[in-house]
Amino acid sequence: PWNTELAQEIIASGAKIEGATLPILHALQEVFGHVPEAAVPLVAQALNLSRAEIHGVVTFYHDFRESPAGTHVLKLCRAEACQSVGGNELADSVKARLGVDWGGTTADGKITLEATYCLGLCACAPAGMLDGQVAGRLDEAAVSELLAEVRR
Ligand code: FES
Repeated sequence: PWNTELAQEIIASGAKIEGATLPILHALQEVFGHVPEAAVPLVAQALNLSRAEIHGVVTFYHDFRESPAGTHVLKLCRAEACQSVGGNELADSVKARLGVDWGGTTADGKITLEATYCLGLCACAPAGMLDGQVAGRLDEAAVSELLAEVRR
C-alpha cells in the first residue's frame, strides 16, 4: 500500500545522486510494485522538475508501471528478430485472448501483459518471459500452456 513517508525516504536518499530520476523511480517501483500517481509530485519537487517531466519519464520507459501488476507478468519480446518470425501475430492473439493491450491486466487480476525489447533469445524467437522465466520458440499453444500453469 501507498506510504507517503516511505516514499519520501526513498526519494530523499535517491535525490543526492546525479541523474536521480531513473534510480528513484526504480526504487519506488521496487517497493510499491508500480510508480504510484501520488509519488510523481513528490519526485518532481525533490528534483526540481515539473510533474509533467516526471510523468513523461514514467510513461516513456517500458519498465515502469503506472498501476499495480497482476499476480503474474507475461512479457513478450517486440524487438526485430522476434517480430520477423511472427512475434506481432503472436502478440495480437495473446492480447485478444487475454482481453488486454500492452501494460494491461486481465479482469481477474491474474495476468499483466508487458512488452520487452530483446531478451537475448533471438535464436529462439519469438521469445517471452513469464514471471522472470524466459521462454523461447513461443507460439499460441506454448503461451496458453504457460498461462494455464500459473492460472491453476
Ligand atoms: Fe526478441 Fe532478441 S529480438 S529476444
